[in-house]
This record gives sequence, structure tokens and C-alpha cells, in this order.
Amino acid sequence: MTERGAVMTIFEAYNNTKKRLAAAGIEDSVFEAKAIIRHITGLSNNEILTNYMNNLTEFQENNLTAIMRQREIRYPLQYILGNWGFYKYKFKVGVGVLIPRNDTEILVETASEFLKDKKNPQVLDLCAGSGCIGISLAKDYPDAAVVMVEKFEEAARYIKQNIELNEAYNTLLLMGDVLEGAGSGEYDLIVSNPPYIPKTELSLMNEETKFEPETALLCEGDGLKFYRVIAEKYKASLKNGGMLAFEVGFSQAQSVCDILKQNGYSDIRTVKDYNGTDRVVCAVK
Ligand SMILES: C[S@@+](CC[C@H](N)C(=O)[O-])C[C@H]1O[C@@H](n2cnc3c(N)ncnc32)[C@H](O)[C@@H]1O
Repeated sequence: MTERGAVMTIFEAYNNTKKRLAAAGIEDSVFEAKAIIRHITGLSNNEILTNYMNNLTEFQENNLTAIMRQREIRYPLQYILGNWGFYKYKFKVGVGVLIPRNDTEILVETASEFLKDKKNPQVLDLCAGSGCIGISLAKDYPDAAVVMVEKFEEAARYIKQNIELNEAYNTLLLMGDVLEGAGSGEYDLIVSNPPYIPKTELSLMNEETKFEPETALLCEGDGLKFYRVIAEKYKASLKNGGMLAFEVGFSQAQSVCDILKQNGYSDIRTVKDYNGTDRVVCAVK
């Protein structure tokens, strides 16, 4: 058996983690160090404050070493923690699925507002990923029926876990290709955050994004293919007065408004994200 080296207190582990994260170029090293220490100790922020002079166990120390090896090569924190808060709910995440983004909360808020006065609304979430959009709406409106369409099994297994985690049993997962019209039906609301990054913008993505599936991010050509196909193919699946709402890339809002206009939608409008960028484009049939 090998001897254990010098034992580390929670306080030392936190300071050391924070320093190493900052040295690896991670911006919010304080937030992340706290999250990692909570994760390895199972303690809350308050419990950490009252137990900061306690030693880490050998298991916790080994776990911290392994996590830091991953994080220093910019493997996403969310994948390490295994779950992430989005909107009002929690979602399991890991390799194979897109990490829910803050910006996408704008799409959920816009969609949720639209559903406010609807009775038993029928909702379709295209390109569902972790299920963060569809499940959030299903939780906000227990009388809604939400269909989520996803093409890839690696992502869909997180949808299944997230339905269970959130007990969102008013949802249905449909495996299929949105470009082929999977999930067509009759809906009050169709939402989608499809892959929209053109290959030419790949180099602009941060280090962490490189660990996320390209199938969730990249879209051939100008990045607008899903918007064109959905606006056209799924119009017949929208009830009169129903809303189609998209998340769009930072420079795509005008083009997506044009696509909706060309397809005869009305009340076309955009909604800004927390940085003031037009992030959601929605319209009514
Ligand atoms: C940008 S991610 C969005 C995931 C999730 N809706 C979110 O907002 O975090 C796009 C998702 O579309 C899925 N996808 C890609 N091509 C698809 C297709 N042709 N049909 C259905 N889903 C597709 C990807 O696997 C990925 O989960």
C-alpha cells in the first residue's frame, strides 16, 4: 500500500483549485472552485464555511485530482458535475449532449409567456437535445402535452433521464429527423433551438465547446437550413394563431425574420438575450 502524502483541508483545496483554474484561463475561477468543492465533498456553501478546516478524505482528494486534470484541458464543468441548472429546473448533462445555455432561457420565457392563457396546449420541441426547452415548458404547464424530437441517441438518452429527473410525464420523446418533418401534427406552439453554427465559425468557439457534439452545433452552409426547413415544413403542423419560436445565432435574427416573412407568418418579432443580442425570433401563423 502506498502512503498518503500531506493531507489537505477543504480551505486549502478550495484555494488551490481556484488558483489552478485561473492559471488554466478559466474566467470565473471562484464560482467554479466552489462548485467543484461542493461536488467532491457533497457539502453546501454554508457547510463548507463551517467545516473549512476539515481534511479531505483520500477518496475526495483523488477525485479532485482527476477533476482538475479534466478541467485544466477545458473539459466542461457541466459535464464534470453531471447536471446543470437551466431556467427553473435541473438537467442531467454529459458527453453527447449540448449543455443548456443561459441564452436559451429567453426562448423558454418567450414560449412560456405565449402559453399563459392556453388550455391543454400542444407543444412541439424540435432538436430537443437534453430536453431543457420541452421539459421546462411541460413543467410550467402540467396540462400541456409536449412532444420532443431528437435525431441522435447519444442526446436522446439524456432526454429520457431528464424526463424522469423532472417527473415531466406530460412529455413524449420522438426519435426522428427534423429535416424530414418528424413529429408533424397539430400544435399551438413549435419551439426550436436547432444547430445553427456555420462551419466557418468553428474556430470562434471556446475551448469547452469543442467537447460538445458537432451534430448539436454545426449546420451546413450559412447555418440557416433548419430555420428554412422548419418554417416551411412545419407550418401545416401549426394551428391558426399558433406560434413558431426559434433561438438564433448572434447575427442571424434578420435572416430568420426574412425566412418567416417569405413563408407567410405574421407578428414576426425578435427578443434580446441578456447581452442585448437578438436571440429569439418568433412569429404567428
Ligand atoms: C443546438 S442543440 C439544442 C439542444 C436543446 N434544444 C437546447 O436548447 O439545449 C440541437 C439539437 O438538435 C439535434 N439534431 C441535429 N440534427 C437534427 C435533425 N436533423 N433532426 C433532429 N434533431 C437534430 C442535435 O442532436 C442537438 O441535440
